[in-house]
Amino acid sequence: MPLVPPYIESLRPYEAGRSIEEVQRIYGLARVSKLASNENPLGPSPLAIEAMFRCMSGLNLYPNGGLDLRRVLAEKYETKVDNVIAGSGSEGIISNIIRAFLGDEDEVLTTDAAFIGFQILAKSRGVAYRTVPYRDWRYDLPALAGAITGRTKIIYLANPNNPTGTIFSKHEFDAFYQHVPERVLIILDEAYFEYVKDTPRYPDSMHYRYDNVITLRTFSKIYGLAGVRIGYGFAHERLITNLLKVKLPFEPSTLAQAAGIAALADKEFLHKSLELNVRGLKFLTSGLREIGLTVITSEANFVMAVLPSAEHAAQLTSELIKQGIIIRPLASFGLPQCVRISTGTTEDNQRCVEAIQKLEVPLSCNS
Ligand SMILES: Cc1ncc(COP(=O)(O)O)c(C=O)c1O
Repeated sequence: MPLVPPYIESLRPYEAGRSIEEVQRIYGLARVSKLASNENPLGPSPLAIEAMFRCMSGLNLYPNGGLDLRRVLAEKYETKVDNVIAGSGSEGIISNIIRAFLGDEDEVLTTDAAFIGFQILAKSRGVAYRTVPYRDWRYDLPALAGAITGRTKIIYLANPNNPTGTIFSKHEFDAFYQHVPERVLIILDEAYFEYVKDTPRYPDSMHYRYDNVITLRTFSKIYGLAGVRIGYGFAHERLITNLLKVKLPFEPSTLAQAAGIAALADKEFLHKSLELNVRGLKFLTSGLREIGLTVITSEANFVMAVLPSAEHAAQLTSELIKQGIIIRPLASFGLPQCVRISTGTTEDNQRCVEAIQKLEVPLSCNS
């Protein structure tokens, strides 16, 4: 075996989108709209900021491994602390799931072009990574059920999905679940659940407290805390106990935990963020469709657009960045002909649609 195993050598490190400051510097721009990473354009929850300031004087002490947040979440969701985990973002928890539950011969199963964070983490374990294509840009749950083998250990489902923004319904999940053996762990990644939880056909995964389902959520999106790294999950205590064995003992950090607890209580911020997102989604979807783009109907805080080719998608991204609008090309996800645009402030959204309107890049297969 070489020093670096081939399955690590062949990976590409996660490329974070360009920062606002970097784009300002490179292109000499005063104003930059970052619509690339599904962040909250309103900033962090104000209650979370206050809570972080309050706990600063205790930063000489080690944190307690997320216990305070786990207690708050257990009470909120009427479950036991033993059924809750907290970590450095939901990706931190995904990383621990992969470490705890995958053996060398196991397989991971998910959709083509799944959330890039999951792809990288799963592939870094060196096990077989199998996918089925999307159907109408949605998870094809019947095809996934049919693709389960004796070696399948983890099935990863993001609902809403990143990058397509689509969801599967309660009915569809129920039908799928019938085909999943108990020895297979289903990760239900609900990073965007707050944006869609009031939609009746959306499955509230807290009703699926099956022994082989782990629900993951995050404070990075609607609570505006992506920079703090705090996420959480719910599962059977046997799964949580084993995750606790492999997680870094002191994650999440004291600041992250305090921010998460306070953000959960920030109803006003949640409401404002939801409201802004509803308007942003409508505006981006209809505005971009009017100028000829194929936009997939989204239930999250971003939209995905499908361009005539990979070259068009790359050109659109690079033309927009020159004008101070950062969007996300999706080649690294496995969708080179697509881009993803997050909802921003009303002004950001307008700038984005107006800038695309003025470009000379062909936007649809008919243009
Ligand atoms: C589907 C999905 N899961 C997880 C994450 C990562 O969340 P966190 O910041 O909590 O690690 C993202 C972020 O983009 C996401 O889109």
